[in-house]
Amino acid sequence: MTQLATPGLENAPTTHARLLAWVREMAELTQPDQVVWVDGTDEEWERLTQQLVEAGTFTRLEKKPNSFWCASDPSDVARVEDRTFICSVDEADAGPTNNWMAPDEMKSIMTELYRGSMRGRTMYVIPFCMGPVEAENPMFGVELTDSEYVVVSMRVMARIGSRILEAMGTDRPFVPAMHSLGAPLEEGQEDVPWPCSQTKYIVHFPEERAIWSYGSGYGGNALLGKKCYSLRIASAMARDEGWLAEHMLILKLTSPQQKTYYIAAAFPSACGKTNLAMLEPTIPGWKVETLGDDIAWMRFGEDGRLYALNPEYGLFGVAPGTGWDTNPNAMRTIDKGNSVFTNVALTDDGDIWWEGMTEEPPAHLTSWKKQDWTPDSDEPSSHPNSRFCTPITQCPILAPEYEDPKGVPISAILFGGRRKTTIPLVTEARDWNHGVFLGATLSSETTAAATGAVGVVRRDPFAMLPFIGYNAGDYFRHWVETGKAHDATKLPRIFYVNWFRRDEDGGFLWPGFGENSRVLKWVVERLEGTAAAEETPVGHVPAADSLDVSGLDMTQDRVRKALAVDKDEWRAEVPQITEWFEKFGDKLPSTMWDELEILKSRLA
Ligand code: GDP
Ligand code: PGA
Ligand code: MN
Repeated sequence: MTQLATPGLENAPTTHARLLAWVREMAELTQPDQVVWVDGTDEEWERLTQQLVEAGTFTRLEKKPNSFWCASDPSDVARVEDRTFICSVDEADAGPTNNWMAPDEMKSIMTELYRGSMRGRTMYVIPFCMGPVEAENPMFGVELTDSEYVVVSMRVMARIGSRILEAMGTDRPFVPAMHSLGAPLEEGQEDVPWPCSQTKYIVHFPEERAIWSYGSGYGGNALLGKKCYSLRIASAMARDEGWLAEHMLILKLTSPQQKTYYIAAAFPSACGKTNLAMLEPTIPGWKVETLGDDIAWMRFGEDGRLYALNPEYGLFGVAPGTGWDTNPNAMRTIDKGNSVFTNVALTDDGDIWWEGMTEEPPAHLTSWKKQDWTPDSDEPSSHPNSRFCTPITQCPILAPEYEDPKGVPISAILFGGRRKTTIPLVTEARDWNHGVFLGATLSSETTAAATGAVGVVRRDPFAMLPFIGYNAGDYFRHWVETGKAHDATKLPRIFYVNWFRRDEDGGFLWPGFGENSRVLKWVVERLEGTAAAEETPVGHVPAADSLDVSGLDMTQDRVRKALAVDKDEWRAEVPQITEWFEKFGDKLPSTMWDELEILKSRLA
C-alpha cells in the first residue's frame, strides 16, 4: 500500500532543516492522521479546549473564566520514577541513583512502541522556549505530542508557538522532546477521556540532549519542558557549561527598611515550594514577591554573584492544602481563570474544590474518580497529587524582574524536606562546603507527587534525586567546584529548613505557611550579621530569642522543640549518611567525607 502524504507535513511554517527532518521522521514512525503546528494563539486554545470538552476530557467551569476540570485515568496521576531513565552512553554517567539502559537498546524498544502509536490521532508540533526568548542564548525545545491536554497545558507552562518558531530561525539548536500517549485509535474505535498506556517510559539522552516519553499524560511525565528538560537535560548542560539547573523556587523579600533580597529554595516535590514562593508574611513590614515556584537556572554574573532565572511560564501546583488561609496568593492566581485543574473535585455549581481549600467541604461533589462524593465518603474528593495549572503572570505578587533574562542575584539558598523528627526548623551552614553537605544529605518523606509508597524517609539530595540527569556523585562535585571557582564572600549563604517536624501527638510543631516569614527574617538578619546563632554539631541555629515569635500563638517550649538539635537523633542519622555516601564510591568528593567526620566528632 502506498502511504498518502500526511496533512500538515508539507507547507510547514518553518525552514529549520533539522526540525523538519525530525518531525518528518517521527510522523513516519508514529503515523498520525495529521500534523498540526502549534501557533499559541487564543483561537487555537479555544479550538483545543472545546475539542477536549467534546471528548469528555474537560468540563468547562461555570465559576472560573476560561477554566477546565479534568480527571485523569486513575492509574496516571503522578511522576513514574521507576519508569524514568537516564540513557547516557556510559552507565557510570547515570550513577547509582538513576535507572539506566544503553541508548541503542532503549531506542530500539521505544521505536517499536512509537511505531504507529499516533494512528487515528493528531501530532502537534509545539515550539517552546524555557526562559525569556529575548535571552542571549534562548533555550529552545520542540515537543511532539498526540495529546491535546499536553498542548493546552504546555501553553500555560512555557512560552510556546509561532513567535518561538520564528526565533528558532533556520538552524538554532533545540532540545527535541518526543511524547506519545501510546494509545492509537483504530478505524471506528471510540476514544476515552484520558488515553494513556500501561507501558510507560520517561527517557533522557543527556549527550544528545533529547527526551523520549511514552505512555503517560501526567504533567511531570508529559509536559517535557518542565522536569525533563529544565532539570534532567539542563542539569547535564549546566555541568558541562559551569552553571546550575536546580529544583528551586525563587522569591524576592523586602524588609521593613526597604532592602531587597532574593532567595532560592530547594524542597522535594510536594514539600512547600509553591507555598513559600507566594508566602504572605505574618510579620509586619515584610513583603514577599514571587519569581518562580519550581525551577531555577543559576549562572554567575560578571560581578561574581549567582543570578537565578525561572525558565517556566506557569504554575503546576499541588492543589490539596491550597486555601485562602494557607496560600491566598495562589487562590487569587487561579481565580483569574485560564487554568486547568486535574484530579480535583467538581462542585455542583461548576467550580472546583479540594481538601484544604475551605474548612467546610461542600455537601456534594463529583470526586476526581467521577463519583458522587459527600463529607461522609471514605476517600478524599481529590487525589493527593491533584494539580492546578495556571499562568504565573496572573500571580498578583509576581516580581517585575521575572521577565529579566539576566535573572536576580541570590543571597541565600534554603534546602528543606519533610521530616517528622531530627531536622530543626532552621540551621545555617558554616560555609559553602558544609552547605553542599547539607544538600547532599537532604532527606525527606516521600509524597504523592511520585507513584509508590508515601511517607518513607529517603535521601533526596538537593531535592534533585529524581531530576539529576547524570551521576549524583559528579553533581555533588559540581557544587563543590562551583564554590571553589568563585569569590566566597559573594556566594549565597546556605540554610536548611524543616516546616514538618511533629510533636508527640503527631501535630506539626511549627505553624508554617505565612509564619515561615519569621524564618526568612532570621535568614536575612544572619546575612546582615544582626541575628544571634548558637553553634551546634549540625550548624548554626537561632539563639534563644533571636527568632521573631512575637504575636505567634506558640509556647516557648514548642519553639524550643522546633529548633532543637537532639544529639541522639543525629547519631542515628550518621550510619544512614555513611551508607548513602558509600553508594557513590570514587565519585563522591572527599570533602563530603570530611564534612561527615566533622559531624561525627561534634556529636561525640
Ligand atoms: P511543592 O510541590 O514543593 O511546590 O509543594 P507545595 O507548596 O505545593 O506544598 C505541598 C503540600 O505541602 C501542600 O499540601 C501544602 O499545603 C503543604 N505545605 C506547604 N507549606 C507548608 C508548611 O509550611 N507547613 C505545612 N504543614 N504544610 C505545608
Ligand atoms: P512538584 O513537581 O511536586 O515539584 O511541583 C511537579 C511534578 O511532579 O510533575
Ligand atoms: Mn509546586
